[in-house]
Amino acid sequence: MMKSKNSFCLLLCAPIVTAHYTFPWLYVNGTLPRMWQYVRYVAIGYEDGENWDSLPGPGMAIPQYDTTSTNFTCGRLAIDYAKTTETADVIAGTVVSFRVNQGFAPDDEGALNSGLNHPGPAQAYLAKPPEGVALEDFSGTDGDWFKIATLGAKTNESWVLESYAAGRMANITIPATTPPGTYLLRFEQFWRDNNRKWEQWFVNCAQVNIIGPGGGSLKGYPFAKFPGVYDEKDPGNLDHPEFWDKYGYYQNLLAWVAPGPPVWTGE
Ligand SMILES: *[C@@H]1O[C@H](CO)[C@@H](O)[C@H](O)[C@H]1NC(C)=O
Ligand SMILES: *[C@@H]1O[C@H](CO)[C@@H](O)[C@H](O)[C@H]1NC(C)=O
Ligand SMILES: *[C@@H]1O[C@H](CO)[C@@H](O)[C@H](O)[C@H]1NC(C)=O
Ligand SMILES: *[C@@H]1O[C@H](CO)[C@@H](O)[C@H](O)[C@H]1NC(C)=O
Repeated sequence: MMKSKNSFCLLLCAPIVTAHYTFPWLYVNGTLPRMWQYVRYVAIGYEDGENWDSLPGPGMAIPQYDTTSTNFTCGRLAIDYAKTTETADVIAGTVVSFRVNQGFAPDDEGALNSGLNHPGPAQAYLAKPPEGVALEDFSGTDGDWFKIATLGAKTNESWVLESYAAGRMANITIPATTPPGTYLLRFEQFWRDNNRKWEQWFVNCAQVNIIGPGGGSLKGYPFAKFPGVYDEKDPGNLDHPEFWDKYGYYQNLLAWVAPGPPVWTGE
């Protein structure tokens, strides 16, 4: 049996890993894809002084802080990698899952066993390229985004997406009546860094081709723009002190209201 070089590294090499993460795997039909097969690769971040690592694993995982940047749409410079990303055929009504990689390099075996070490809310949105525009030419910055899922609070102190095992996979149902066609599927997860008193955002986009009968109407839906939709005054902004006790632990999360437009019901 062939062993990867990483198994020899167990004792000798310190893993290069950060507390930050990306979501480079999109499971479709329950199958593990290659890392970045269906999710657009992102550039290394140099934000807010966090330029301590230029290696692809940790560097790509550096969070975003600026919700008004075009990098907030799909991750840093994601459009530059559109042409090298495959588009996954997805049957409407099925579940797809984004899986976390906690800052491991693309060829590191540790990536699959890593977790989400900053529990917080997560949401998923879809946007279709404008008529006549190919998906690979669509950055999403001018897109009309509709929300298909919020993974919010589970209890006053915990989120649906918890750390490690339970937080590895974010499961999202593609509404059965979604109009068929190609889409960007945008996934975001965020939390507030207590030291910085600031929100950290982790955003990635997958390329999907939704197959199905359609039938759902988006007429009158209050589409979101990325960037643009979120405001620091949003009640769902985790900077609000009501969500934090004096020790820096979550509290009162059942009162949390998801930022952005409502989840599209598919009707
Ligand atoms: C987007 O990210 C890239 C790569 O880190 C950076 O060079 C660029 O300045 C960012 N653009 C904006 C608008 O923030
Ligand atoms: C998922 O399954 C459907 C139905 O068999 C198939 O058409 C589609 O290609 C599959 N998608 C992927 C990414 O394997
Ligand atoms: C998400 O889906 C995976 C794979 O089907 C499953 O193992 C996991 O329990 C699901 N997670 C949640 C929170 O439902
Ligand atoms: C959640 O926290 C709020 C505010 O402290 C409290 O009023 C409510 O009873 C809590 N709910 C549960 C289910 O613990």
